[in-house]
Amino acid sequence: MSSCDKRANEEDRVHASVKDYYGKTLKKSDDLATNVCTTPTTRLPKYVREALKLVHDEVASKYYGCGIVIPPCLHGAHVLDLGSGSGRDCYALSKLVGETGQVTGLDMTEEQVAVARKHIDYHAKVFGYAEPNTDFVLGYIERPIEAGIKENNYDLVISNCVVNLVPDKRAALGEIYKVLKDGGEFYFSDLYANCDLPDNIRKHEVLWGECISGALYWKDLGKIAEEVGFSTPMLISSREISINSKSSKLRELVGDYKFVSAEYRLFKCSTQGDGKPVNVVYKGELEGLPDEFILDKNISFKKDEPLCVSGNLAVILKCSRYRDEFKYEPAPCCATESQVAAVNPFDVAVSEDAKVCGEGGPSCCA
Ligand SMILES: C[S@@+](CC[C@H](N)C(=O)[O-])C[C@H]1O[C@@H](n2cnc3c(N)ncnc32)[C@H](O)[C@@H]1O
Repeated sequence: MSSCDKRANEEDRVHASVKDYYGKTLKKSDDLATNVCTTPTTRLPKYVREALKLVHDEVASKYYGCGIVIPPCLHGAHVLDLGSGSGRDCYALSKLVGETGQVTGLDMTEEQVAVARKHIDYHAKVFGYAEPNTDFVLGYIERPIEAGIKENNYDLVISNCVVNLVPDKRAALGEIYKVLKDGGEFYFSDLYANCDLPDNIRKHEVLWGECISGALYWKDLGKIAEEVGFSTPMLISSREISINSKSSKLRELVGDYKFVSAEYRLFKCSTQGDGKPVNVVYKGELEGLPDEFILDKNISFKKDEPLCVSGNLAVILKCSRYRDEFKYEPAPCCATESQVAAVNPFDVAVSEDAKVCGEGGPSCCA
């Protein structure tokens, strides 16, 4: 058997096993064997919390995401959710993009797509839309165009705890790059490991299904992103995950390997900066963000305060759907030019013990 055939067989085996896990083994979030595919309640703008509350109970009960994948500036956006499952994030986004926006979910598991499709009309009615703005497609993340997804078509691609499940991550990121418009953003949540995981973890079907075995070594994300043409990954948040399971066998297998759950944004931008720094000023007009726009762990724009950024970063912002949220002024000389740089998500991970909403957490959660 050629190495290509072997790879294809291995990919088919993983797809079949993951479909079985999400289509047959798991019926609801509580059936998960570990704590990985869960999202702690966290600081969220009120409008996002309200959109999430409107999602149908059956959809919400089958949520297996590990983070929040709802960036700002959504009105009228065309969004694609890869590995959309029962559709929780799609429906919250359906509300937030408004009637002129469009949200498509893609998933390879028929049972998941069926649940998501069942509630299309319900959500359109709840949101007061004349026509639904959501649809769900059966297909593979590695081959979205085969499933009818258009190239250069999306302002935003999201994915919640799915890239780890895909055997060929380079193919997945390459296809995501293709389907995004120029200036489009890939905003996603996933698991990362502190090293390359050994084969006894990699090949374990339950640990793979639970989003552990396929976790990328965090440094590999930057390498793959660069290879397929994306900007340097911008780390938005990161949280320690110590794997909890009722099964002592699973806990033993995972041993001392360390994991974080992290949200990143990557931009597709074909224009290059001219190398000259630019003063960028956030206007403070985005819903829920009147004082500050946090781009990533290194770069945050305070309302009306110029921030001197590299020419490349200014070009990315101007290319993106955030372009009109900023003013751009030449910066003839600036001492410290902010630019995107790789950040180790393990260095900045919030501890699992950090207070979260409903447990004495930040007052904005109230
Ligand atoms: C951990 S669940 C997350 C589901 C959803 N994002 C959520 O937050 O509830 C992973 C989902 O990704 C889908 N999936 C995994 N690998 C896939 C692939 N290669 N192509 C398409 N869907 C995939 C599974 O069928 C499953 O529904």
